[in-house]
Amino acid sequence: MSGSAQELVLAVSNLSKSFGPTRVLADVDLSVQASQVVVVIGPSGSGKTTLLRCCNGLEVADRGRIEVCGTTLFSDGRLLHDSELNALRTRVGMVFQSFNLFPHLTVLQNVTIGPRRIRRKTLSEAAE
Ligand SMILES: Nc1ncnc2c1ncn2[C@@H]1O[C@H](COP(=O)(O)OP(=O)(O)OP(=O)(O)O)[C@@H](O)[C@H]1O
Ligand SMILES: [Mg+2]
Repeated sequence: MSGSAQELVLAVSNLSKSFGPTRVLADVDLSVQASQVVVVIGPSGSGKTTLLRCCNGLEVADRGRIEVCGTTLFSDGRLLHDSELNALRTRVGMVFQSFNLFPHLTVLQNVTIGPRRIRRKTLSEAAE
């Protein structure tokens, strides 16, 4: 797929992460363009969740580089500062593997609470 830098949503290069002696991500390269749908497939424990957590700053990689929508999230072993990280996270969604819904809310209220509270969307905007 060809595309300008503006269409690049995610650019990961040479990303590595170990937990103790276990090397979970080994020089991973990944780029995702706007409107592209990408599926990451692999056996249990192969590092899919770790990769996604690194792309949201929930996990700090050991080496490599991550850019999200042109903002450098991780480079030279360092994450963005908290305020910039929080701003970027308002634009990155992640559904956790073992998710928990708020029991006192409907399904629609559960899935719209993030954009309504964090991005100040109206119910109809968030529902859309
Ligand atoms: N915080 C952590 N501390 C230590 N080891 C961890 C940690 N998080 C993940 N791991 C280990 O890293 C490896 C990759 O885990 P990860 O959860 O990324 O795999 P996965 O591909 O998402 O697996 P699954 O398909 O089961 O969801 C596993 O060996 C896991 O035990
Ligand atoms: Mg997982």
